[in-house]
Amino acid sequence: MKKLLLTIALVIAGMTARSQSTSIIPIPQKMVENAGGKLEKWSSKKIKYAKDKKLAEEAYVLDITAKGITIKSSTEKGKFYALQTLNQLSETNPDGLPLLRIEDEPRFGYRGFMLDVSRHFFSMDELKKILDLMARYKMNVFHWHLTDDQGWRAEIKKYPKLTTIGATRAGNYDTPIRQIEENGQVYWTGNGVKTNEQYGPYFYTQDEMREIVTYAKERQIEVLPEIDMPGHIVSAMAAYPEYCCHPERTPQVWSGGGISGDVLNVANPKAVDFAKDILAELCDIFPYPYIHIGGDECPTNQWETNPQCQQRYKELGLKSYRALQTHFIKEIADFVRTKGKQIVCWNECIIADGTDTELMKETGATIMSWIYCQSSVRKAVEMGMPAIVTEYHTQGGGYYINRRLSNEYGEPTGAGYGDDPVEGCYKYVPVQGNYTDGQLSLIKGVQGTFWTEHVGTNEYLEYLAIPRLMCVAEAGWSRQDQKDWPAFRTRLMNHLPWLESHNYVYSRHWMPGYTPRIEPKPLNEQLAPQPQQSSLEAPKWYRIKFAAGRTYLQVNGPNLSTTALFQNDKSQYFALIPAGDSNFKLYCASGYWLSTKSGTSTNGAEGVFLCGTEDAAEALTFCIQQHPGDATCQVISPVTDKSKGFNTWGGNNAGSNIGFWDISDNNDKLNFTTDEYRF
Ligand code: ACM
Repeated sequence: MKKLLLTIALVIAGMTARSQSTSIIPIPQKMVENAGGKLEKWSSKKIKYAKDKKLAEEAYVLDITAKGITIKSSTEKGKFYALQTLNQLSETNPDGLPLLRIEDEPRFGYRGFMLDVSRHFFSMDELKKILDLMARYKMNVFHWHLTDDQGWRAEIKKYPKLTTIGATRAGNYDTPIRQIEENGQVYWTGNGVKTNEQYGPYFYTQDEMREIVTYAKERQIEVLPEIDMPGHIVSAMAAYPEYCCHPERTPQVWSGGGISGDVLNVANPKAVDFAKDILAELCDIFPYPYIHIGGDECPTNQWETNPQCQQRYKELGLKSYRALQTHFIKEIADFVRTKGKQIVCWNECIIADGTDTELMKETGATIMSWIYCQSSVRKAVEMGMPAIVTEYHTQGGGYYINRRLSNEYGEPTGAGYGDDPVEGCYKYVPVQGNYTDGQLSLIKGVQGTFWTEHVGTNEYLEYLAIPRLMCVAEAGWSRQDQKDWPAFRTRLMNHLPWLESHNYVYSRHWMPGYTPRIEPKPLNEQLAPQPQQSSLEAPKWYRIKFAAGRTYLQVNGPNLSTTALFQNDKSQYFALIPAGDSNFKLYCASGYWLSTKSGTSTNGAEGVFLCGTEDAAEALTFCIQQHPGDATCQVISPVTDKSKGFNTWGGNNAGSNIGFWDISDNNDKLNFTTDEYRF
């Protein structure tokens, strides 16, 4: 009883003192402070280390008493984590360490961060800087997304063209961001810019990949390499078109985003050997017993029209071409097992219609769950398969930590709807609903995932990832019942000096006292912000912009484009010109025009617009509709009702659909804005 009372008293003391002195992230599982006491003189050389075999692999005990510091662990990992805790304590306590005892171990064994280096390449130094950050926050797996449609970044000796051809693309899209100060606050801002400049060749040599493995290992981080297959593989198909279904299409390394149909021909034994050879080389470089083989977003269309795939489909007696993918995965899983590895794959491999789930079970794959994340985690563990949680997007925010943080004025353009704030990431609950103990043990952990279609610089990477990476780290380490958003923000504030002194960029929306940037008023208040119809003789020009993305609409040759931003270009300026029958034309200042044909778009299929010069109008069909989730589409006429705004949609079937389309997403709103522009 006495012991119990003492424990309660200490816990209460620990709770009240969980303040600046112990701003540890992730918060330790058990921390008891001897509030008020300090160890003023200490040296890292005098720390006593003891091995305690009873402790779990990553666990540690850190004791700071008036006599000195003791660390206990069963492995080097635990010791490393104790030192991270100690480093953080010493930063916030320059006058002496608080006397305390921490008994700590992670909630999950997998605490990952994924970086896509295909869409944009990051240098060795940049990768190391991210690994340093991961180490500080006790993350332990660097998932290295090495290949995708936009670039092949891993040297493979047997197939040199993967990097002589696959590591270069014709153009680039990037979002340079810059820091500004307004109203005494710091903000970052910037817009995406598309160029036709060659990007690459950029890739990592095998020696460089080994160097990253060593650097990570020194920080108790494993490296999980990913070769995305059989889809998202255009960069390889550009180099070795003989391994896709339709070589005559001569695939080129992509410069834009999306999902390509030029996938690996999984029914061609030579293409399968090609995949195996690549993985064999990587198995030699990466010691982690897992290898990620992608499996996401793979269209089956080309398999359906390819004679070899059709033949294999028949031989296997399949009911869906999707099951060809499962057979491919099984073959690859069997192959990498001969190298001592197990596969990880994205969750489409168990949820896509037509997939062979029984065969998937035999692959022993770990399921990395992003889309329909929670239901897929449940499905995986009910199938007896391990799962990793990396929520793509929920209304509040998830673990895709490259997504736009806000829709505030001046926020850099990027992927997402602006509703993935730091708070949502922190509050996301990785394990939802009830599971049996056996199922729970299959939920291996969490991952912050970072795609780089919009992100070509370390600055922007860090701006988006910090502090969401710390949110994911805390989800991976601390118990759910310890998580507390206000307390986390307070602790986080104490990490800023370290971030600053190590030159990390970070976002600030989460900070207490933060105020968003204020949008400057239109320069000419007399021009109404709501568009008026006018006439060709006396047009009133308006600039149309996406309320969310602040991406400006422009007519770009005969096509509409929002990807190149020439903000002073007159092609952005439009006038609403009546065209009879209550329709109107959107007349572009550069001489192009757009008009509704029927003005009665009802379901996203009908709104026909004409685009081109008035003499040689080219018909392009697209729809302009409200949010894809909304049932009713809107005709263009209510665009004058600024309160409604519009969402836009564009298909990827070139020539049939052209949308007012911010390349990052498809549901930005359209607003009209006035400007000083005059002819
Ligand atoms: C993914 O985001 N395509 C895994």
